[in-house]
Amino acid sequence: MKLNFLLAAVAACMMASTPAFADEPIVIKFSHVVTKETPKGKGAERFKELAEKATNGRVKVEIYPNSVLYKDKEELDALQLGAVQMLAPSLAKFGPLGVREFEAFDIPYIFPTRDVLHRVTEGPVGKGLMKKLQPKGIVGLAYWDNGFKEMTGNKPLLHPDDFKGMKMRIQSSKVLDAEMRALGANPQVMAFSEVYQALQTGVVDGTENTPSNIYTQKMHEVQSDLTVSDHGYIGYAVIVNKKFWDGLPADIRTQLEGAMKDATKYTNAISEQENAQALEAIRKSGKTNIHVLTAAEKAEWRKALLPVRKEVEKRVGKEVLAAVDKEQAALGGH
Ligand code: LMR
Repeated sequence: MKLNFLLAAVAACMMASTPAFADEPIVIKFSHVVTKETPKGKGAERFKELAEKATNGRVKVEIYPNSVLYKDKEELDALQLGAVQMLAPSLAKFGPLGVREFEAFDIPYIFPTRDVLHRVTEGPVGKGLMKKLQPKGIVGLAYWDNGFKEMTGNKPLLHPDDFKGMKMRIQSSKVLDAEMRALGANPQVMAFSEVYQALQTGVVDGTENTPSNIYTQKMHEVQSDLTVSDHGYIGYAVIVNKKFWDGLPADIRTQLEGAMKDATKYTNAISEQENAQALEAIRKSGKTNIHVLTAAEKAEWRKALLPVRKEVEKRVGKEVLAAVDKEQAALGGH
Protein backbone atom coordinates (compact mmCIF):
# COMPACT_ATOMS: atom_id res chain seq x y z
CA MET A 1 0.00 0.00 0.00
CA LYS A 2 1.40 3.41 -0.95
CA LEU A 3 2.23 5.78 1.89
CA ASN A 4 0.12 8.68 0.60
CA PHE A 5 -2.85 6.38 0.20
CA LEU A 6 -2.37 5.15 3.75
CA LEU A 7 -2.14 8.67 5.14
CA ALA A 8 -5.23 9.79 3.22
CA ALA A 9 -7.12 6.73 4.45
CA VAL A 10 -6.11 7.32 8.06
CA ALA A 11 -7.09 11.01 7.85
CA ALA A 12 -10.42 10.07 6.30
CA CYS A 13 -10.93 7.51 9.05
CA MET A 14 -10.47 10.08 11.75
CA MET A 15 -13.08 12.33 10.17
CA ALA A 16 -15.48 9.59 9.21
CA SER A 17 -18.62 8.08 10.56
CA THR A 18 -18.89 9.20 14.18
CA PRO A 19 -20.86 12.44 14.28
CA ALA A 20 -19.37 15.12 16.52
CA PHE A 21 -22.81 16.40 17.48
CA ALA A 22 -25.91 14.37 18.18
CA ASP A 23 -27.90 16.01 15.36
CA GLU A 24 -25.26 15.51 12.70
CA PRO A 25 -26.10 12.65 10.31
CA ILE A 26 -24.18 9.38 10.34
CA VAL A 27 -22.33 9.26 7.03
CA ILE A 28 -21.94 6.04 5.03
CA LYS A 29 -19.35 6.40 2.31
CA PHE A 30 -20.19 3.80 -0.33
CA SER A 31 -17.37 3.36 -2.84
CA HIS A 32 -17.57 1.29 -6.01
CA VAL A 33 -15.80 0.94 -9.36
CA VAL A 34 -18.60 0.92 -11.97
CA THR A 35 -20.72 3.75 -13.36
CA LYS A 36 -24.08 4.89 -11.98
CA GLU A 37 -25.79 3.35 -15.03
CA THR A 38 -24.95 -0.27 -14.15
CA PRO A 39 -26.98 -2.68 -11.97
CA LYS A 40 -24.59 -2.05 -9.04
CA GLY A 41 -24.60 1.71 -9.64
CA LYS A 42 -28.39 1.78 -9.66
CA GLY A 43 -28.58 -0.52 -6.63
CA ALA A 44 -26.31 1.83 -4.67
CA GLU A 45 -28.49 4.82 -5.60
CA ARG A 46 -31.61 2.92 -4.55
CA PHE A 47 -30.02 1.97 -1.22
CA LYS A 48 -29.12 5.61 -0.59
CA GLU A 49 -32.67 6.73 -1.28
CA LEU A 50 -34.25 4.01 0.88
CA ALA A 51 -31.73 4.32 3.73
CA GLU A 52 -32.05 8.09 4.02
CA LYS A 53 -35.84 7.83 3.97
CA ALA A 54 -36.05 4.97 6.46
CA THR A 55 -33.79 6.74 8.95
CA ASN A 56 -35.50 10.09 8.46
CA GLY A 57 -32.22 11.66 7.38
CA ARG A 58 -30.24 10.42 10.40
CA VAL A 59 -28.09 8.52 7.91
CA LYS A 60 -26.56 10.13 4.85
CA VAL A 61 -25.19 7.85 2.14
CA GLU A 62 -22.44 9.34 -0.04
CA ILE A 63 -21.79 7.30 -3.17
CA TYR A 64 -18.41 7.40 -4.89
CA PRO A 65 -18.83 5.50 -8.19
CA ASN A 66 -16.49 4.61 -11.05
CA SER A 67 -13.30 4.30 -8.93
CA VAL A 68 -13.28 8.08 -8.20
CA LEU A 69 -12.14 7.34 -4.65
CA TYR A 70 -10.40 3.96 -4.77
CA LYS A 71 -9.51 1.23 -7.26
CA ASP A 72 -10.18 -2.51 -6.77
CA LYS A 73 -7.62 -3.51 -4.17
CA GLU A 74 -7.39 -0.10 -2.52
CA GLU A 75 -11.08 -0.02 -1.70
CA LEU A 76 -10.83 -3.21 0.36
CA ASP A 77 -7.91 -1.73 2.31
CA ALA A 78 -9.91 1.49 2.78
CA LEU A 79 -12.92 -0.44 4.10
CA GLN A 80 -10.83 -2.33 6.62
CA LEU A 81 -9.21 0.91 7.77
CA GLY A 82 -12.64 2.55 8.08
CA ALA A 83 -11.93 5.27 5.48
CA VAL A 84 -15.13 4.13 3.72
CA GLN A 85 -17.98 2.22 5.32
CA MET A 86 -19.57 0.30 2.44
CA LEU A 87 -18.46 -1.45 -0.76
CA ALA A 88 -19.81 -4.00 -3.20
CA PRO A 89 -16.77 -5.73 -4.74
CA SER A 90 -17.31 -8.56 -7.16
CA LEU A 91 -17.00 -12.03 -5.63
CA ALA A 92 -13.87 -12.48 -7.76
CA LYS A 93 -12.03 -9.93 -5.62
CA PHE A 94 -12.19 -11.58 -2.19
CA GLY A 95 -9.26 -13.98 -2.70
CA PRO A 96 -6.63 -11.42 -1.61
CA LEU A 97 -8.58 -11.05 1.67
CA GLY A 98 -8.00 -14.74 2.27
CA VAL A 99 -11.60 -15.84 1.68
CA ARG A 100 -10.98 -17.95 -1.40
CA GLU A 101 -14.34 -19.71 -1.33
CA PHE A 102 -15.94 -16.74 -3.09
CA GLU A 103 -13.83 -17.53 -6.15
CA ALA A 104 -15.96 -20.66 -6.67
CA PHE A 105 -18.48 -18.29 -8.26
CA ASP A 106 -15.93 -17.69 -11.05
CA ILE A 107 -15.80 -21.31 -12.20
CA PRO A 108 -16.83 -21.42 -15.88
CA TYR A 109 -20.36 -22.65 -16.55
CA ILE A 110 -20.99 -23.39 -12.89
CA PHE A 111 -24.44 -21.76 -12.76
CA PRO A 112 -26.91 -23.11 -15.29
CA THR A 113 -29.51 -20.49 -14.32
CA ARG A 114 -29.92 -17.48 -12.05
CA ASP A 115 -32.38 -19.51 -9.95
CA VAL A 116 -29.67 -21.99 -8.97
CA LEU A 117 -27.32 -19.13 -8.18
CA HIS A 118 -29.87 -17.36 -5.96
CA ARG A 119 -30.67 -20.52 -4.07
CA VAL A 120 -26.97 -20.88 -3.29
CA THR A 121 -26.41 -17.25 -2.24
CA GLU A 122 -29.61 -17.05 -0.18
CA GLY A 123 -29.10 -20.49 1.38
CA PRO A 124 -26.86 -21.62 4.26
CA VAL A 125 -23.71 -21.73 2.12
CA GLY A 126 -24.14 -18.13 0.94
CA LYS A 127 -24.74 -16.98 4.52
CA GLY A 128 -21.78 -19.05 5.78
CA LEU A 129 -19.43 -17.37 3.30
CA MET A 130 -20.47 -13.94 4.57
CA LYS A 131 -19.64 -15.04 8.13
CA LYS A 132 -16.09 -15.84 7.04
CA LEU A 133 -15.57 -12.11 6.47
CA GLN A 134 -16.16 -11.19 10.11
CA PRO A 135 -12.64 -12.01 11.37
CA LYS A 136 -11.41 -9.62 8.65
CA GLY A 137 -13.41 -6.79 10.24
CA ILE A 138 -16.11 -6.99 7.59
CA VAL A 139 -19.85 -7.73 7.75
CA GLY A 140 -21.55 -9.06 4.61
CA LEU A 141 -25.03 -7.66 4.08
CA ALA A 142 -26.27 -8.91 0.71
CA TYR A 143 -25.50 -10.51 -2.63
CA TRP A 144 -26.19 -8.40 -5.70
CA ASP A 145 -26.30 -9.67 -9.27
CA ASN A 146 -24.64 -8.27 -12.28
CA GLY A 147 -24.87 -11.05 -14.85
CA PHE A 148 -23.18 -13.48 -17.19
CA LYS A 149 -19.89 -12.62 -18.88
CA GLU A 150 -19.00 -12.36 -22.54
CA MET A 151 -15.53 -12.38 -24.14
CA THR A 152 -14.17 -9.45 -26.12
CA GLY A 153 -11.04 -9.23 -28.24
CA ASN A 154 -9.21 -7.50 -31.05
CA LYS A 155 -10.17 -10.42 -33.31
CA PRO A 156 -13.03 -12.94 -33.47
CA LEU A 157 -13.01 -15.45 -30.58
CA LEU A 158 -15.12 -18.37 -31.74
CA HIS A 159 -13.05 -21.40 -30.82
CA PRO A 160 -10.82 -22.12 -27.81
CA ASP A 161 -7.83 -22.08 -30.19
CA ASP A 162 -8.51 -18.44 -31.02
CA PHE A 163 -7.35 -17.50 -27.49
CA LYS A 164 -3.83 -18.90 -27.97
CA GLY A 165 -1.29 -16.30 -26.87
CA MET A 166 -3.91 -13.55 -26.31
CA LYS A 167 -3.24 -11.23 -23.38
CA MET A 168 -6.54 -11.20 -21.50
CA ARG A 169 -7.38 -8.87 -18.60
CA ILE A 170 -8.92 -10.62 -15.61
CA GLN A 171 -10.06 -9.69 -12.12
CA SER A 172 -7.79 -10.80 -9.27
CA SER A 173 -9.25 -14.33 -9.02
CA LYS A 174 -7.03 -17.39 -9.34
CA VAL A 175 -9.99 -19.25 -10.85
CA LEU A 176 -10.13 -16.72 -13.68
CA ASP A 177 -6.40 -17.16 -14.12
CA ALA A 178 -6.98 -20.92 -14.53
CA GLU A 179 -9.87 -20.26 -16.92
CA MET A 180 -7.77 -18.13 -19.28
CA ARG A 181 -4.87 -20.56 -19.14
CA ALA A 182 -7.24 -23.42 -20.02
CA LEU A 183 -8.01 -21.49 -23.20
CA GLY A 184 -4.32 -20.97 -23.93
CA ALA A 185 -4.44 -17.22 -23.17
CA ASN A 186 -2.11 -15.18 -20.93
CA PRO A 187 -4.18 -13.77 -18.08
CA GLN A 188 -3.25 -10.35 -16.70
CA VAL A 189 -4.74 -9.10 -13.44
CA MET A 190 -5.66 -5.43 -13.69
CA ALA A 191 -7.88 -2.97 -11.83
CA PHE A 192 -11.21 -2.34 -13.52
CA SER A 193 -10.53 1.38 -13.93
CA GLU A 194 -7.46 0.63 -16.07
CA VAL A 195 -9.05 -1.76 -18.54
CA TYR A 196 -10.27 0.69 -21.17
CA GLN A 197 -6.87 2.27 -21.62
CA ALA A 198 -5.10 -1.09 -21.58
CA LEU A 199 -7.36 -2.32 -24.38
CA GLN A 200 -6.95 0.90 -26.32
CA THR A 201 -3.16 0.89 -26.16
CA GLY A 202 -2.75 -2.85 -26.71
CA VAL A 203 -1.37 -3.59 -23.22
CA VAL A 204 -3.97 -6.37 -23.33
CA ASP A 205 -5.76 -7.83 -26.36
CA GLY A 206 -9.06 -8.71 -24.79
CA THR A 207 -11.12 -9.22 -21.69
CA GLU A 208 -14.28 -10.74 -20.26
CA ASN A 209 -17.11 -8.88 -18.61
CA THR A 210 -20.86 -8.37 -18.54
CA PRO A 211 -22.43 -6.34 -21.37
CA SER A 212 -23.35 -3.66 -18.85
CA ASN A 213 -19.74 -3.23 -17.69
CA ILE A 214 -18.40 -3.39 -21.25
CA TYR A 215 -20.85 -0.77 -22.52
CA THR A 216 -20.63 1.69 -19.63
CA GLN A 217 -16.80 1.66 -19.76
CA LYS A 218 -16.92 2.00 -23.59
CA MET A 219 -14.73 -1.10 -23.93
CA HIS A 220 -16.66 -2.04 -27.07
CA GLU A 221 -15.25 1.08 -28.76
CA VAL A 222 -11.73 -0.35 -28.47
CA GLN A 223 -12.55 -4.03 -29.15
CA SER A 224 -13.40 -5.25 -32.63
CA ASP A 225 -15.22 -8.41 -31.53
CA LEU A 226 -17.51 -9.65 -28.78
CA THR A 227 -18.57 -13.26 -28.28
CA VAL A 228 -21.83 -13.93 -26.47
CA SER A 229 -20.54 -16.87 -24.45
CA ASP A 230 -22.19 -16.47 -21.03
CA HIS A 231 -19.36 -18.63 -19.73
CA GLY A 232 -19.18 -17.15 -16.24
CA TYR A 233 -20.88 -14.91 -13.74
CA ILE A 234 -20.21 -11.56 -12.06
CA GLY A 235 -21.99 -10.79 -8.82
CA TYR A 236 -21.21 -8.79 -5.69
CA ALA A 237 -21.15 -8.98 -1.94
CA VAL A 238 -22.30 -5.75 -0.33
CA ILE A 239 -20.06 -5.35 2.69
CA VAL A 240 -19.60 -2.90 5.58
CA ASN A 241 -16.87 -2.12 8.09
CA LYS A 242 -17.73 -4.27 11.12
CA LYS A 243 -16.69 -1.77 13.77
CA PHE A 244 -18.84 0.91 12.15
CA TRP A 245 -21.81 -1.44 11.73
CA ASP A 246 -21.67 -2.83 15.26
CA GLY A 247 -21.38 0.71 16.64
CA LEU A 248 -24.62 1.93 15.06
CA PRO A 249 -27.68 2.48 17.25
CA ALA A 250 -29.77 -0.71 17.02
CA ASP A 251 -32.81 1.04 15.53
CA ILE A 252 -30.71 2.57 12.75
CA ARG A 253 -29.09 -0.77 11.96
CA THR A 254 -32.52 -2.38 11.63
CA GLN A 255 -33.70 0.41 9.32
CA LEU A 256 -30.58 0.04 7.19
CA GLU A 257 -31.06 -3.73 6.99
CA GLY A 258 -34.58 -3.12 5.68
CA ALA A 259 -33.29 -0.62 3.11
CA MET A 260 -30.62 -3.11 2.00
CA LYS A 261 -33.19 -5.88 1.63
CA ASP A 262 -35.33 -3.73 -0.67
CA ALA A 263 -32.33 -2.39 -2.62
CA THR A 264 -31.21 -5.99 -3.14
CA LYS A 265 -34.60 -7.04 -4.51
CA TYR A 266 -34.52 -4.06 -6.86
CA THR A 267 -30.95 -4.69 -8.09
CA ASN A 268 -31.52 -8.38 -8.68
CA ALA A 269 -34.76 -7.64 -10.51
CA ILE A 270 -33.20 -5.16 -12.98
CA SER A 271 -29.81 -6.77 -13.66
CA GLU A 272 -30.83 -9.21 -16.37
CA GLN A 273 -32.69 -6.58 -18.36
CA GLU A 274 -29.92 -4.01 -17.87
CA ASN A 275 -27.45 -6.43 -19.42
CA ALA A 276 -29.77 -7.29 -22.31
CA GLN A 277 -30.19 -3.59 -23.05
CA ALA A 278 -26.44 -2.98 -22.86
CA LEU A 279 -25.79 -5.81 -25.35
CA GLU A 280 -28.35 -4.26 -27.67
CA ALA A 281 -26.70 -0.85 -27.32
CA ILE A 282 -23.31 -2.38 -28.19
CA ARG A 283 -24.87 -3.99 -31.25
CA LYS A 284 -26.49 -0.71 -32.31
CA SER A 285 -23.24 1.22 -31.89
CA GLY A 286 -21.87 -0.72 -34.85
CA LYS A 287 -18.37 -0.55 -33.37
CA THR A 288 -18.05 -4.23 -32.44
CA ASN A 289 -18.85 -7.43 -34.33
CA ILE A 290 -21.07 -9.56 -32.14
CA HIS A 291 -20.79 -13.33 -32.45
CA VAL A 292 -23.30 -15.68 -30.88
CA LEU A 293 -21.80 -19.14 -30.39
CA THR A 294 -23.47 -22.00 -32.23
CA ALA A 295 -24.34 -25.16 -30.27
CA ALA A 296 -21.24 -26.88 -31.65
CA GLU A 297 -18.97 -23.95 -30.71
CA LYS A 298 -20.47 -23.84 -27.23
CA ALA A 299 -19.68 -27.53 -26.82
CA GLU A 300 -16.03 -26.81 -27.70
CA TRP A 301 -15.85 -24.03 -25.09
CA ARG A 302 -17.36 -26.27 -22.43
CA LYS A 303 -14.95 -29.04 -23.22
CA ALA A 304 -11.99 -26.66 -22.90
CA LEU A 305 -13.26 -25.00 -19.72
CA LEU A 306 -14.86 -27.77 -17.69
CA PRO A 307 -11.51 -29.11 -16.37
CA VAL A 308 -11.06 -25.80 -14.52
CA ARG A 309 -13.54 -26.96 -11.87
CA LYS A 310 -11.37 -29.93 -10.89
CA GLU A 311 -8.23 -27.85 -11.03
CA VAL A 312 -9.45 -25.24 -8.54
CA GLU A 313 -11.50 -27.47 -6.23
CA LYS A 314 -8.77 -27.50 -3.60
CA ARG A 315 -8.45 -23.73 -3.58
CA VAL A 316 -12.14 -22.84 -3.40
CA GLY A 317 -13.32 -25.78 -1.27
CA LYS A 318 -16.23 -28.11 -1.94
CA GLU A 319 -19.00 -26.19 -0.15
CA VAL A 320 -20.18 -23.94 -2.95
CA LEU A 321 -19.80 -26.68 -5.55
CA ALA A 322 -21.85 -29.11 -3.47
CA ALA A 323 -24.53 -26.46 -2.92
CA VAL A 324 -24.72 -25.76 -6.66
CA ASP A 325 -25.17 -29.48 -7.39
CA LYS A 326 -27.82 -29.78 -4.69
CA GLU A 327 -29.83 -26.76 -5.82
CA GLN A 328 -29.58 -27.81 -9.43
CA ALA A 329 -30.98 -31.22 -8.54
CA ALA A 330 -33.73 -29.59 -6.44
CA LEU A 331 -34.77 -27.51 -9.44
CA GLY A 332 -35.00 -30.58 -11.59
CA GLY A 333 -31.53 -30.68 -13.08
CA HIS A 334 -31.79 -27.52 -15.23
C1 LMR B 1 -14.36 -6.05 -12.92
O1 LMR B 1 -13.35 -5.70 -12.30
O2 LMR B 1 -14.35 -6.44 -14.09
C2 LMR B 1 -15.70 -6.03 -12.20
O3 LMR B 1 -15.56 -6.63 -10.96
C3 LMR B 1 -16.18 -4.62 -12.01
C4 LMR B 1 -17.47 -4.61 -11.22
O4 LMR B 1 -17.45 -4.18 -10.08
O5 LMR B 1 -18.48 -5.03 -11.79
